[in-house]
Amino acid sequence: MGAESNRSRFALILPAAGSGQRLGESIPKPFLSIAGRTILEHTLQPFVDTGALVHVVIPTEKNYIKTARERVITSFSHLSVEVIEGGSERQYSIEKGLDAMKAAGIDAKWVAVHDAVRPFITVDEIQRCLDAAVKFGAAIVAVPAKDTIKMVDLDKMVDQGDSAGNQDTYRIKHTPNRATCWQAQTPQIFDSTILKKAYEQARETSAVGTDDASLVEALGHDVYIVEGRRENFKITYPIDLTLTRWLMEGENA
Ligand code: C5P
Repeated sequence: MGAESNRSRFALILPAAGSGQRLGESIPKPFLSIAGRTILEHTLQPFVDTGALVHVVIPTEKNYIKTARERVITSFSHLSVEVIEGGSERQYSIEKGLDAMKAAGIDAKWVAVHDAVRPFITVDEIQRCLDAAVKFGAAIVAVPAKDTIKMVDLDKMVDQGDSAGNQDTYRIKHTPNRATCWQAQTPQIFDSTILKKAYEQARETSAVGTDDASLVEALGHDVYIVEGRRENFKITYPIDLTLTRWLMEGENA
């Protein structure tokens, strides 16, 4: 199976839209420049380095379509790339990416989805995830939960509203065994037929998931985990950006 997967060629959807409000920057996070390149380019590099990437679709904000295209073409001149307008939710951006691939006649057997703001992904992780997808049809990179996870009752939110500006409090419903909890990262790689079916079902049932695997799980298809690294974090909060700068620029950050 290993030899077969090494020959496997795949397409990538690299979602790069959304407001990124939690980061508090005026430029959307995939377009922030660190160590001379945008985060988007840093993220794409290891996928190109696999030598197996046949096509990439980048859903992004309307105002950044031109920038994304220019940056990617400058850095990866021979790559088959399409930049499109994203959707209002990550899931809709991926859905548009799948539609764009179909319209362009890209018939990839394997489709990877990877957040444009996880620049520390490695070729090894991509390859191991692709190997597992080839074997099982659906695989994701994830890490064991570090903290104990609490399931809360959303209906029981209590707004403290005190002068210190404290946030809502939540009643804990359940504490799952930490040994059974993993934090899903990306890439998430699928047999394209399965992924398309999952998105069709989500559209029909109006289901919205926070990752792609959950839509495939809803189809009743098993999804497998490949253990990744904590460095493959998603740049979400200001602390993530500080850490990214420090890791990429070292003492020049
Ligand atoms: O917002 P979140 O951290 O979940 O974003 C994960 C990835 O999905 C980011 O790379 C972001 O640019 C992308 N995204 C998107 N379309 C949206 C929201 C997020 O492509 N509407």
